[in-house]
Amino acid sequence: MNTASKNRYYQTGELRGARVKALFDHIAKRYDLINDIQSGGLHRWWKHSLIKASAIQSGEQALDVCCGTGDLALSLASQGASVVGIDFSQAMLDEAKRKLPSTASQRAPRSPVVFQQGDAMELPFEDNRFDVVTMAYGLRNLSDWEKGLSELHRVTRPGGRILILEFGKPPNPWWRSLYFGYLKLAVPLIGWSLAGDAEAYRYILTSLHHFPAQRGIEAAMVRLQCRHIQTRLFLGGVMSLNLAQKQA
Ligand SMILES: C[S@@+](CC[C@H](N)C(=O)[O-])C[C@H]1O[C@@H](n2cnc3c(N)ncnc32)[C@H](O)[C@@H]1O
Repeated sequence: MNTASKNRYYQTGELRGARVKALFDHIAKRYDLINDIQSGGLHRWWKHSLIKASAIQSGEQALDVCCGTGDLALSLASQGASVVGIDFSQAMLDEAKRKLPSTASQRAPRSPVVFQQGDAMELPFEDNRFDVVTMAYGLRNLSDWEKGLSELHRVTRPGGRILILEFGKPPNPWWRSLYFGYLKLAVPLIGWSLAGDAEAYRYILTSLHHFPAQRGIEAAMVRLQCRHIQTRLFLGGVMSLNLAQKQA
């Protein structure tokens, strides 16, 4: 637990955003490769599960917050939605934008995707705008995750869907210890060897220790008076998908 103060990318309070932005600016070019390696490619399956659970329809308006290198935004668009992807790291957005031409030549998105820079803590959109609002691996990084969640809720239209994919906390203590051991030892080693920055990848476990994960998100969705709240666990809770509908 007390690893927080030892990680240069983890900071409570006002400096949190600046440190997190510095982290993602630094690893942006290697982010996708390391994601594939550290998850054994499974992040693609977890994101696919989110897209399926969103029941996104052609013509709907979707927002992907903390879009990073654009995986979810591009997948939503491939289902015919109009998508905005927002992130505060220009380096991550540059990687996302780089995928647009190659995606167009292979599996062309049928609808436009706009990638724009902005802060998840203060979304530059009016209330009740989007049919579907998604976030993958973003909430844990925010200086105030509950405020971030209420922002997602604010811009979702009544009856719209909110879906959050995040690192989870496995309920089984043995499995949790094994998994935390992997995050503590193997993941920083991968980060060091491929991005030259073990600390950036040690940050995952540090930030997870300070985050209530799936059960906390679920409770916050109840406080927001969402409907049809569900929590799905992948690999025994290694990852979680929280989904809900904004009250109509
Ligand atoms: C772990 S990455 C996830 C990227 C992508 N969603 C994915 O699943 O691959 C987290 C992203 O959240 C962004 N982020 C963190 N805090 C943010 C904030 N306050 N506002 C906007 N973006 C933020 C980072 O820049 C980074 O691109």
